[in-house]
Amino acid sequence: MYKQTNWSKMRTSSFAVVLFISLCLPSSSWVTADNSVYDNFLQCLYNYSQPSNSISGVIYTPSNSSYSTVSQSYIRNLRFNESTTSKPLLIITALEVSHIQIAIGCAKTHGLQMKIRSGGHDYEGVSYVSDVPFFVLDMFNLRSINVSIKDETAWVQTGATLVDNIIDALIIDVNGNLLDRASTGEDMFWAITGGGGSSFGVVLAYKINLVPVLAIVTVFRVERTLAQNATDIVHRWQEVADKLDNDIFIRMIIDVVNSGGNKTIRASFVSLFLGDTERLLSIMIAGFPELGLQKSDCHEMPWLESVLYWTGFPNGTSVDALLSRVPQVLTHLKRKSDYLKEPIPKEGLEYIFQRMMEFVTPILTFNPCGGRMAKISEFATPFPHRAGNLANIQYATNWKEDGVEAANHYINLTRMLYGYMTPFVSKFPTGLF
Ligand SMILES: *[C@@H]1O[C@H](CO)[C@@H](O)[C@H](O)[C@H]1NC(C)=O
Ligand SMILES: *[C@@H]1O[C@H](CO)[C@@H](O)[C@H](O)[C@H]1NC(C)=O
Ligand SMILES: *[C@@H]1O[C@H](CO)[C@@H](O)[C@H](O)[C@H]1NC(C)=O
Ligand SMILES: *[C@@H]1O[C@H](CO)[C@@H](O)[C@H](O)[C@H]1NC(C)=O
Ligand SMILES: *[C@@H]1O[C@H](CO)[C@@H](O)[C@H](O)[C@H]1NC(C)=O
Ligand SMILES: *[C@@H]1O[C@H](CO)[C@@H](O)[C@H](O)[C@H]1NC(C)=O
Ligand SMILES: *[C@@H]1O[C@H](CO)[C@@H](O)[C@H](O)[C@H]1NC(C)=O
Ligand SMILES: *[C@@H]1O[C@H](CO)[C@@H](O)[C@H](O)[C@H]1NC(C)=O
Repeated sequence: MYKQTNWSKMRTSSFAVVLFISLCLPSSSWVTADNSVYDNFLQCLYNYSQPSNSISGVIYTPSNSSYSTVSQSYIRNLRFNESTTSKPLLIITALEVSHIQIAIGCAKTHGLQMKIRSGGHDYEGVSYVSDVPFFVLDMFNLRSINVSIKDETAWVQTGATLVDNIIDALIIDVNGNLLDRASTGEDMFWAITGGGGSSFGVVLAYKINLVPVLAIVTVFRVERTLAQNATDIVHRWQEVADKLDNDIFIRMIIDVVNSGGNKTIRASFVSLFLGDTERLLSIMIAGFPELGLQKSDCHEMPWLESVLYWTGFPNGTSVDALLSRVPQVLTHLKRKSDYLKEPIPKEGLEYIFQRMMEFVTPILTFNPCGGRMAKISEFATPFPHRAGNLANIQYATNWKEDGVEAANHYINLTRMLYGYMTPFVSKFPTGLF
């Protein structure tokens, strides 16, 4: 018996797919999860503890002095780091398959909801917040990555942040069986490969295809305000970004900035190109001359350094920074998404830019589809939004203040702009929420 998954809340980007799995078990005793349910559940875990698995050593109950730290360590949205946020009855920081199997077995027997927290971002706290009594199966220790250069594949445990292009998986089902793609079958495999397989089991690891990259790639970031023809350039981006060349990706970010005391719109074009500056410039002059890209805007670097550049690390940061599991920035945040099927006309852009200057937030990020993504049919994976879309739009609002009032204010602003965008984005149904 599986709870229906609200997959529309799950998000993926072209570069990273992160799944948070919430295995929902028979619900009859959720609402009455009183002390005896908790005590029996805990006793059940201890009953299974043996020297060979020692699950007792990875259980954090609220009376444990490390409980708060463990609980808060992987909160990636401070909106869910409030005293009013629901807290898990306990946390199991699994180290091995048997810990997951015992957690599933005891959750099933005692009717407790299990939230599974993997390694990546989670905008809405779905992997560690619930409105029924629950515990967290935390996967952060399970993050080994084994790369086979020979086969051009890698096995990645789900405590790591994942990339797309999944070809196999290890999943522990509701009966505690450890299965792979061959033994679980194609339907189950399809269901857990994107867009939020929230209800099917605990995914321990994914096998992914590796894609070769050149030794040196080229990046740029170019900014244009309204006075620098941002409206025309944004309009043109919509016509060309998904069609320019398979080796180029140009993200467009639109925000409100101050220019000599007046608010204006700034469009930033951030790009990764699998090639050198010379070929990049020739593609841009032929296909997107309106941007006015200059040779001095282009920076050649190893692909790994381009990841730092994209993530916003200062120039010169060591690539070791990528090994840190502490985010650069933690804020309260709200994200929403839409899909663009047709370019927004210039008058539409002008209207939206006016609204943005009134509200200041959210920031809009446009990620183009096209290239390899345009060849993935909407039925190939549970995440259907690739072929047939020009771009994904993300609405992003960040704020510093704690509390429900601030959250409501900023969520409201985000929803208002989202509402104003409705005529311009995919509908019947909308792409995402
Ligand atoms: C734990 O094990 C004891 C002894 O075998 C048994 O009596 C008890 O019912 C078990 N408790 C739970 C919650 O499984
Ligand atoms: C907290 O729980 C962990 C994991 O079970 C355990 O290793 C540690 O000793 C506990 N700490 C305290 C103070 O009880
Ligand atoms: C989360 O909340 C706790 C308790 O208020 C606080 O100590 C901690 O610093 C907060 N975490 C972050 C990253 O702000
Ligand atoms: C990687 O290999 C090690 C050693 O064989 C193994 O313990 C680990 O589970 C493997 N990780 C993955 C993700 O396959
Ligand atoms: C803006 O576009 C106009 C008309 O195409 C052009 O004359 C002008 O030079 C452009 N301005 C900038 C800053 O690119
Ligand atoms: C700011 O706006 C005022 C009023 O429209 C205008 O007079 C002024 O030139 C603007 N300043 C800049 C730097 O654009
Ligand atoms: C980083 O700094 C070096 C040295 O100042 C410079 O040559 C290089 O172009 C800079 N890279 C980027 C991406 O700005
Ligand atoms: C946002 O707040 C305004 C003013 O309080 C209200 O009129 C509007 O309905 C709210 N919008 C949303 C989408 O909640």
